[in-house]
Amino acid sequence: MKLAILGGGAWGATLGQLLIDNGHDVMIYDINQSFVDVINEKHIHPFFDLPLQESLVATNDLSVALNYSDYIVLAVPTKVMRGLLTTINNLLDKPKYFINVSKGIEPDTQKRVSEIVFEVVSSKNLKGFAVLTGPSHAEEVIKRKLTLLTVASSDEELATELQTVFSNETYMRVYRSTDLIGCEVGGAVKNAIAVVSGIATGLDMGENARAALITRGILEMVRVIESYGGTKESAFGLTGIGDLIVTATSEHSRNFKAGKEIGKGKSLDQIYAEQKQTIEGVRSILALHQLAKHKGLSLPIIEVAYKVIYEDMSVDSAITQLLTRTLKSEKIE
Ligand SMILES: NC(=O)c1ccc[n+]([C@@H]2O[C@H](COP(=O)([O-])OP(=O)(O)OC[C@H]3O[C@@H](n4cnc5c(N)ncnc54)[C@H](O)[C@@H]3O)[C@@H](O)[C@H]2O)c1
Repeated sequence: MKLAILGGGAWGATLGQLLIDNGHDVMIYDINQSFVDVINEKHIHPFFDLPLQESLVATNDLSVALNYSDYIVLAVPTKVMRGLLTTINNLLDKPKYFINVSKGIEPDTQKRVSEIVFEVVSSKNLKGFAVLTGPSHAEEVIKRKLTLLTVASSDEELATELQTVFSNETYMRVYRSTDLIGCEVGGAVKNAIAVVSGIATGLDMGENARAALITRGILEMVRVIESYGGTKESAFGLTGIGDLIVTATSEHSRNFKAGKEIGKGKSLDQIYAEQKQTIEGVRSILALHQLAKHKGLSLPIIEVAYKVIYEDMSVDSAITQLLTRTLKSEKIE
């Protein structure tokens, strides 16, 4: 099969290697010409100093990538997703399958990537949609370390086809799900909780506190998933807890590391100035704060993280706000 990957960053270029390992033909599109050159000329991953196959090609011409394949993998940061999809919709003259691998929720609209795709791409240009997500540091997949993912689509036939496309018998096993909403929301919420876990780590709050925040964060993930119409089951699978475990305490995670820096006292502006790569969790915290307000959801941990990051609340006040809440049963509700 031929596939086009839009976004040749840490994850997009790594998926390119995986798909070539699996016997497919791949073209990467990226706006950054130096990434395109390094893939085409040096055959090296743009972020990791590791070789890529010579057959992996890249372009900075979106039309060329769109004409290359009927299967379009979306691997750009969610903040550019709406703009890119609008351009794509204007360029397309035949329908495509879209496979999203980005993890975030759009602030202001609180829309998931699938909602943005269905809103922006006209039905005549859209053959199908799926999300590929789960616990996966690009740093490990690029070294072909064992990884399990889930592909979710309301179209089970498409999910089954993609399961085969992305799986191999040496390091990648892909499950399928029809709970598109639950799977895509889990990936966005876990990034937000990873930021919180990072803040606790940066503050040296201790492992008890961090475990408590992560565990109670899962409950907030369940509430968000269900508020969008997804199932609790996804929160307890690879795309929920699985992805949270891999992210919430890992130095590979930009979300965890950004949280740690915030915990040590850095401002968001300072972090963005130092880290050019995508930090989805910080943006998701804003979107989830807005969602909680609109839908009347109880997301106390996300709420204090929002206040610390966006309203300069002191961490002492944030902890007081969490600890002075009414004592309650641990029941999941
Ligand atoms: N890094 C990982 O391990 C990993 C794993 C799973 C999922 N993800 C998700 O994948 C998404 C991308 O993450 P990443 O780590 O690859 O980020 P990244 O910052 O490393 O790469 C993003 C790439 O998109 C390109 N880009 C930005 N705007 C573009 C545009 N308008 N058109 C074309 N290309 C554009 C950038 O040049 C860059 O190469 C995020 O949503 C992230 O949550 C990342």
